[in-house]
Amino acid sequence: MINFPNIMYGGDYNPDQWPEDIWNEDIRLFKLANINIVTLPVFSWAKLQPSEDTYNFGWLDKIMDKMAQNDIKVCLATSTAAQPAWMSKKYPEVLPVNIAGNKKQHGGRVNFCPNSSVYRKFAVQLATELANRYKDNPSLLIWHIGNEYINHCYCENCAREFRNWVKNKYGTIEEVNRNWNLNFWGHTIYDFNEIETVSYLSEMGRDTWSGHDRDVTSFQGMALDYSRFNSDSTLACYLAEYEAIKKITPDIPATTNLMGFFKPMDYQKWAKKMDIISFDSYPFPNETTGNTAIKHSLMRSLKNGDPFMLMEQTPSQVNWQPANPLKKPGIMRLQSYQALAHGADTIMFFQLRKSIGACEKFHGAVIDHSGHENTRVFKECSKLGEELKNLGNKIIGSRINAKVAIMFDWDNWWALEYSSGPTVHLHYIQQIEKYYNTIYDMNIPVDIISCEDNLSSYEIVIAPVLYMVKPGLAKNIENFTSNGGTFLTTFFSGIVNENDLVKTGGYPGELRDVLGIWVEETDALLPDDKNSILLNEEISSLKNEYSCGLLCDLLHIETAKSLAVYGSDFYAGMPVLTENQFGNGRAYYIASDPEKTFLSDFMKHLFSERDIKSPFYAKSGIEITQRHKGGKTFTFILNHTNNDTCITLDNNKYLDLISKNEFIGSVFIKAKDLVILESI
Ligand code: GLA
Ligand code: ZN
Repeated sequence: MINFPNIMYGGDYNPDQWPEDIWNEDIRLFKLANINIVTLPVFSWAKLQPSEDTYNFGWLDKIMDKMAQNDIKVCLATSTAAQPAWMSKKYPEVLPVNIAGNKKQHGGRVNFCPNSSVYRKFAVQLATELANRYKDNPSLLIWHIGNEYINHCYCENCAREFRNWVKNKYGTIEEVNRNWNLNFWGHTIYDFNEIETVSYLSEMGRDTWSGHDRDVTSFQGMALDYSRFNSDSTLACYLAEYEAIKKITPDIPATTNLMGFFKPMDYQKWAKKMDIISFDSYPFPNETTGNTAIKHSLMRSLKNGDPFMLMEQTPSQVNWQPANPLKKPGIMRLQSYQALAHGADTIMFFQLRKSIGACEKFHGAVIDHSGHENTRVFKECSKLGEELKNLGNKIIGSRINAKVAIMFDWDNWWALEYSSGPTVHLHYIQQIEKYYNTIYDMNIPVDIISCEDNLSSYEIVIAPVLYMVKPGLAKNIENFTSNGGTFLTTFFSGIVNENDLVKTGGYPGELRDVLGIWVEETDALLPDDKNSILLNEEISSLKNEYSCGLLCDLLHIETAKSLAVYGSDFYAGMPVLTENQFGNGRAYYIASDPEKTFLSDFMKHLFSERDIKSPFYAKSGIEITQRHKGGKTFTFILNHTNNDTCITLDNNKYLDLISKNEFIGSVFIKAKDLVILESI
């Protein structure tokens, strides 16, 4: 775990876009805003390396020295997210081929083939030069490798490497044929060279019949492997640079900025190769606070609860949404504290000074085009900087202690959504968010874990739509449950193995024992159709009837007990909610997609059995989290509503770490304001 000296506050700084005479003014403004870290040079490869044989570090030397003189730390980017034009021209193999089979020209950013050895060679060389040059600069705090990796490529390099990847994974052609089920549609192959990239030219296509804008494939196992391969190839680019800089600066941590639930990259795999997670948080204007919190929770959970960096957020507006509302007064501050409340130890912005040309000239910045400090946004940033400075290292390194986990898996996401049938309306993230938000609204902390994580610190593990059961997972779940845990999963689970091959003999396959049920069929409801959930016996906190839809599993009881049945259709009376006593624990199955109230009522039931509850009672829109360190607990209470609120406390005396006010009995919090309470 990385321990920063205090909360690092700053963001992306692009001095190379400006004449030198503005740099001192930048520093004056940074100081005024209490900025103690800058990220640079994220997109300066062309400036740093004007040609294959020449480097130009002079300007960066000056900036690095200025930062050191002014005691501002640097998150040093390797600058490899956008290669120079000369490289694309001289070595066309660095340019990718898109999914439609078109060779790209130079332009944009992250526009390189992840399997280009030329790209990798030059990237590693630049990273090495930077590391050698700045290894002793006192400002160097952390490495920032690349930037928001979003690569995907279908070129000849990638085809060749994909064949190697497949050979490495399966060993023989027979195993490839078996695992991809290539006897289907006569696709049997006899040589690894017959394997192509999985693009619109081969097994992918656009869905032109259902009215849904999505990619489809005739060979899910193959497409799944191509997704894995693409993520692995891109990770290898990051890793090549990581290894090069770690040889020179082994004690400087390295990261790359992640984007929450970003489908193309398996961040659970990436996280293992990162020293600290960093996150670019850009909530949509109408995003619920729960849907923002879930991304922070994911980022925190990627490294088993270690604090993460909020690497980017906008101080005011972005430029890339259809309409880009300003963050109203107080919102940037509240969103920053929300990140801290969920485990961030840094608050950083894109960008510090607003550029004057190209597509980000209307993207919010700490220093606006006006160029001075007398702006609303600058004042808000500077005030927040002061508050964070005053927090010192108090909350640095503190952790969230979740007893509840939601299992989320990238392979499951890819496979589930490549699936042809039973419905295009099933979206994995929506299911994950639905369960998360139910618990978030109760102010109970939740980790978002992978299916490889150790379950033993949790009391309740929820795995919505666990379609794919990877090797060893069922055993883990069985151990967790028989040791007293509560496991919950839902419809369309336990269907396939890690290569998207159906586990025959009855669903939910390997989860059948722990759940004590057998699923025979799955009905996909038309969008407006509903069924209902009728409780068999009274469960306090639950009503007698709820609605459900989307998918309905038709199941038979084996060792489980039916808690509720379907109310209609030819399967009326069949179980829709089951509970199976398994060793010392219980496993639940929710066979359909229930209305939200069912979930909150049912969660209340599960939580009350285990006395899992929010530290304080709060109305909807008030978010409460706790971070713990060295026997101390810091309780964040954020008022996201438009009204002032009053929270009743327990008998302890509390200090608010921001205002330094003390509270006994209750705490008053203004609209869009917050407190961080420590019991004294
Ligand atoms: C991303 C990038 C930044 C910038 C912002 C704009 O997060 O990393 O370079 O383009 O988006 O919101
Ligand atoms: Zn390629």
